[in-house]
Amino acid sequence: MSNHHFLHVGSVRDVETFRLHLRKLGLTIPCDDEVLAGADSPLAQPVEAGGIRIGNRFAIHPMEGWDGTADGRPTELTERRWQNFGRSGAKLIWGGEAVAVRHDGRANPNQLLIARHTRDGLARLRETLVAEHRQATGSTDGLLVGLQLTHSGRYSRPNRDDCAEPRILYHHPLLDKRLGLPATYPLLTDGDVREIIEAFHAAARMADEIGFDFVDIKHCHGYLGHEFLSAYTREGDYGGSFENRTRFLREVVEGIRAVAPGLRIGVRLSAVDSIPFNPQTNGSPGHHGKGVPESFEALLPYRWGFGVNATNPVEPDLCEVIAFLTLLGDLGIRLVNISAGSPYYNPHIQRPALFPPSDGYQPPEDPLIGVARQMQVTCRLKRRFPGLLVVGSAYTYLQDFLPNVAQAAAREGWADLIGLGRMVLSYPELPWDVLQGRPLKRKRLCRTFSDCTTAPRNGMPSGCYPLDDFYKKTETGVQLRQIKKGNRNGSNGSGEG
Ligand SMILES: Cc1cc2nc3c(=O)[nH]c(=O)nc-3n(C[C@H](O)[C@H](O)[C@H](O)COP(=O)(O)O)c2cc1C
Ligand code: SF4
Repeated sequence: MSNHHFLHVGSVRDVETFRLHLRKLGLTIPCDDEVLAGADSPLAQPVEAGGIRIGNRFAIHPMEGWDGTADGRPTELTERRWQNFGRSGAKLIWGGEAVAVRHDGRANPNQLLIARHTRDGLARLRETLVAEHRQATGSTDGLLVGLQLTHSGRYSRPNRDDCAEPRILYHHPLLDKRLGLPATYPLLTDGDVREIIEAFHAAARMADEIGFDFVDIKHCHGYLGHEFLSAYTREGDYGGSFENRTRFLREVVEGIRAVAPGLRIGVRLSAVDSIPFNPQTNGSPGHHGKGVPESFEALLPYRWGFGVNATNPVEPDLCEVIAFLTLLGDLGIRLVNISAGSPYYNPHIQRPALFPPSDGYQPPEDPLIGVARQMQVTCRLKRRFPGLLVVGSAYTYLQDFLPNVAQAAAREGWADLIGLGRMVLSYPELPWDVLQGRPLKRKRLCRTFSDCTTAPRNGMPSGCYPLDDFYKKTETGVQLRQIKKGNRNGSNGSGEG
């Protein structure tokens, strides 16, 4: 099936038709007729909990660009992206981008690293962002800037684009095969895990010294923190029971509290997941078939996913997710960012898009279903945990109707903050335009072409090649267009967010 079967949101001219389309799909998501501007806008209202105050309801999700130096320092491209994040007018900057706490945990050879030699560069990123925010909006009041800390675990690729160096916690019957890992491939030992935990402590202390308001202990998208949560089959201190699978989080938090007592902590979580998907094969090389789940019938009850129903793992199950958010509350963590799935094995769950990246598959569902899935899970969690500050994800595919849905979601309490990812790569000023009541610049709206995902999979920096003039005109932009025209299967599977 090709994406032509799905209504292109960009062709819908009014809110009523959009709502009708949602109804046809059987989707319940809120959508306001009119978007308000100025002080009355629900999106302009500050939000406060546990001593944290955020000046409006827009958040910028972390998004890396594969554009750091080989030793993990930011470059001008990185700085430009952070500047754009500041210019957006959003008052919550959730982490900027994934920053590895150790070299071996980098997802690609250009991922940022937090270490003594990168400290000044990271400090400059934060300063640039804050200065740009002040200049664009007139004030930094209510601005909260975090840094996302990560170890890439199974998806580590620290040295070469074409050389995966996975660090795994357990053998996964489907994901090991994808990575070509034999049954003898070594697992991280409990001792290795303790060393990684110490690296998180050191990283958080440095983030605090640099001036970040909080650190995110990344627990999403298949990376190490997320893999702990599904380590049902792992033996030892960090696997098996819920208590053991969350020991990593608890020990990271405990150490951070000791070395950086004033630093806030947040967690970005893939709250729901699914089975890994593949393109349906139809014999024609280079053709992207529709995404289908890998066969799992022989693997029931399924013990290799977090937030999935063990008897039918293509469905979510929130039981342990609720236990996890309860734990966050008990640990005094107020900042939670809800995401889903993984860009490596089921990108349509994580990042609903009409056009797949070069090694992807055609959407198996209308991408609006993916948006609604994340919104509804976030809404259920927000209502269950009113004391948490909850950020929602996956709004970009709403395109022209993003402001209408964002406003309604904030007004009706579906999420405290509306997180934006791809949309700020193509159109960084969108939140500020909405808050100021300016008409949307339709030509800048992300249409989910996925070039920002395809580029890094071909060893190039990420960026919005189709819509951002800066990248459109670069040599890499031309190169990417050639790759897209040619064999679209030429992927090396390199890094992802
Ligand atoms: C180019 C790119 C890089 C990303 N990098 C990260 C990252 O570093 N950390 C993270 O948690 N998510 C990352 N993501 C996921 C986004 O934060 C976001 O969850 C996703 O794009 C869905 O939101 P959207 O629909 O607004 O784009 C990345 C996404 C893209 C497109
Ligand atoms: S390349 Fe640009 S238009 Fe395409 S998905 Fe990324 S941000 Fe959106």
